[in-house]
Amino acid sequence: MEKQELIEMLNRDLADEHAAILRYLIHSYLEGEDTPIGAKLLSRAREEMWHMHWLGMIIGAIGGEPDMEPAQYPYDPTNRATILKSYVDYEKNLVPHYEQEAERVNEPHIKRVLLREAWESEMHAEKFQKMRDKLTEEEAAGMPGEENQLPEALAEMIQQSVAAKYRQMLQTLRDAWVFQDQGVEAWQRMDFSMTKMKQLAHSAEEIAENGLEPDLTPGVIDRGRSFDAAIDKAVNELKESLDLHLKLQSDPEAKKHGGLMSNLDLTIRQEKYETEELQELQKKR
Ligand SMILES: [Fe+2]
Ligand SMILES: [Fe+2]
Repeated sequence: MEKQELIEMLNRDLADEHAAILRYLIHSYLEGEDTPIGAKLLSRAREEMWHMHWLGMIIGAIGGEPDMEPAQYPYDPTNRATILKSYVDYEKNLVPHYEQEAERVNEPHIKRVLLREAWESEMHAEKFQKMRDKLTEEEAAGMPGEENQLPEALAEMIQQSVAAKYRQMLQTLRDAWVFQDQGVEAWQRMDFSMTKMKQLAHSAEEIAENGLEPDLTPGVIDRGRSFDAAIDKAVNELKESLDLHLKLQSDPEAKKHGGLMSNLDLTIRQEKYETEELQELQKKR
């Protein structure tokens, strides 16, 4: 297979895995991470993150540009039973899809990754089927998500944090894949992207617990090929989200939400830590 064709094929898969992560995560947050259904969905989302990561690493290694825009995840939103049935169908479709792709490539690592994505999708289909079978009648007919209790202005500010962190997280992930030949400094990008995922989860959960859809739109991902420029940009972006979080921290409405405040305190400290680490890196390079 031609390199360009391979990159395009892997990018379509990347976008599909990305879509699956978002779907299972949002659903998990709507259910509540600490509910049996929410916890299982979160577990699936984590496995989809591996899938996305393996593909992203391959694309970066062969000099491609990862497509950070998620694909659509088609599902029937009528109730829990139809939603889970859609997940079963989606995962089942991926099994022959990945097997056929694996047939078309020769490079052993890429072939193995595609085959693993096939059998893990099969396992996901089975697990979703089991979840669906276990639903009580009431659960099956019901919908995830609760009533919104957040004032509009506060919800809006938290959504801004969700969108900012999601974009930063995707950018950091993209940079880690594309600049993987930088070794340990690219690995630090990956490390930071994991912190951002956690920060994103805190604010996205706050939103979803109130029955709202977290604002997970990827925004504009910088496709620059200079690692130094990527670090400069990361420092500026951290400053922007730190400003937003400091504003949120002093908001009287936000202060009424204890969980939000303690997560915010953590996020702010982490953002300061990351800024200092990056500034040191800027000086060294
Ligand atoms: Fe997957
Ligand atoms: Fe899957």
